[in-house]
Amino acid sequence: MASTYDVLLTRLQDAFDRVAPGADPVLRTSERGDFQANGVMAVAKQLGRAPREVAEEIVKHVELSAVASIEVAGPGFLNLVLEDAFLSQRLNLLVADDRLGIDVATEARNVVIDYSSPNVAKEMHVGHLRSTVIGDSLARLNRFKGHHVIARNHVGDWGTPFGMLIEHLLDLGEDEAISSLSIGDLDSFYRGARSKFESDESFRERSRTRVVALQSGDHETRRLWRLLVDQSVAYFAEVYAKLDITLRPEDVVGESYYNDVLDDVVHDLESAGLLIESGGALCAFPEGFTNRDGDPLPLIVKKRDEGYGYAATDLAALRDRVSTLRADVMLYVVGTPQAQHFEMVFAVARLARWLPERVHCEHVAFGNVLGADRKMFKTRSGETVKLVALLDEAIERADTALAGRSDALADLDRRQLATQIARAAIKYADLSTERQRDYVFDLDRMIAFEGDTGPYLQYAHARLRSIFRRLAEPWSAGETSFALAARAERELALALLGYPEAFASALDTSAPHRLCVYLFDLAQRFTAFYDACPVLSSQGALRAERLALCDLTARTLSQGLSLLGIDAPDQM
Ligand code: ARG
Repeated sequence: MASTYDVLLTRLQDAFDRVAPGADPVLRTSERGDFQANGVMAVAKQLGRAPREVAEEIVKHVELSAVASIEVAGPGFLNLVLEDAFLSQRLNLLVADDRLGIDVATEARNVVIDYSSPNVAKEMHVGHLRSTVIGDSLARLNRFKGHHVIARNHVGDWGTPFGMLIEHLLDLGEDEAISSLSIGDLDSFYRGARSKFESDESFRERSRTRVVALQSGDHETRRLWRLLVDQSVAYFAEVYAKLDITLRPEDVVGESYYNDVLDDVVHDLESAGLLIESGGALCAFPEGFTNRDGDPLPLIVKKRDEGYGYAATDLAALRDRVSTLRADVMLYVVGTPQAQHFEMVFAVARLARWLPERVHCEHVAFGNVLGADRKMFKTRSGETVKLVALLDEAIERADTALAGRSDALADLDRRQLATQIARAAIKYADLSTERQRDYVFDLDRMIAFEGDTGPYLQYAHARLRSIFRRLAEPWSAGETSFALAARAERELALALLGYPEAFASALDTSAPHRLCVYLFDLAQRFTAFYDACPVLSSQGALRAERLALCDLTARTLSQGLSLLGIDAPDQM
């Protein structure tokens, strides 16, 4: 169904078209009146006419009877106030719609989302946290819209470090190494290998020989490599389960997957005349990329030692995603520091004609997670912070807060609820920050039940559900007459009607942040409503109307949170 916003926009567009064909009405929700259209000024300028006069003309043409009243304000703004009957009718459409006004896409697209992508035998750090949480929400948004999401966990499972990692594994003994990796002790394993590599020449030599054996497909070496990969991937799966991330084992398509086609990729680039030898390496020099001195910047495709690197692998992956997976959209959810890498990869892929115009390809970049000191988030001893450790700490805190309450929950229920709250705290803090910006990791703030937090939204939802639990008679939402006499009711109703737009803007700009802003506003309007408008103690039609508003708000919060990957428990 067309959203309320779309209904207004269509009507306005018709009127604008009669004055200046194709002019944008610039319609948005507004504090004065329910909506405001600010497009008149641009039209007046274009036509060289007085804005107010143009505004009056549009008002004369616009067909809004039984929808909204319209009035010219200030220099030429158009203020629109929805008619009560229209509002009521719109709300009833939402009440009857499981999807709360969000239509399934008429054309399902293949959306490849590259996210999480940690590295084998290395701890997942907070940078992977952002990729994982944002990417998973984008996957959920796209799936809900009816698109076909293909998740790609581009795990770092290849390259020169594997020589030293395998030698280290042998030094420790397989059993010992496996047990340390399976408990997620990835960092100390990696550091152990690293420090020997730095201090021990014979270890270095062994590692180098091992890389060669790995690359040439030596069976025993491949078996040991597989052990490392499998242990790490199993550990990542545990982290995903703990965080409630929808990535599955089959979504892991690591760098090594592309090994067999790298020769071919480079061969194709060479025949297209895109590679130049530079300092013994094979490089592409896409136009428009220069270093500080203005010299062309290389994308190194094949290194001097004959090895292929990160860029070659990404080119192969891109080609595969377009030609085999038939991607219509490709999203790479990776930190901002890799912006140039992706721009160059996309540019070279276009030159090689692997990336047709019709495919939308985007680096969905994000900022850093900072510590209280506004520096990169590290432990006191300067190590990367383990993702699971953060979650565990959040669970403990939520659990303690719940244990202190009077209405004792059974231990198991409490633990589950604490986990749901902890996930909400961590995910929401991440998603509600505009993705390009950095944010400070502050567990106290994130887990608070007050303010712009995940637990606050969960709590608003649980409060709504508790209203229905206290109801003596059975209740189900049906055709309701919404009078919306109280201001707080009307404000809440308008927010509910805005859900499809909030969804669309989050989806279209790959910005879950926008859905967060919407849900927080909705929860606040609900709180204001609940303070001002008694629900259970009101009577007759008023009570029915208020219950229907509560039900719709609860459903919207619950669905919105689920699209962020956050549970909405019924009781808290
Ligand atoms: N493993 C990489 C890292 O930890 C991220 C990979 C991102 N995806 C990609 N297609 N390059 O930095």
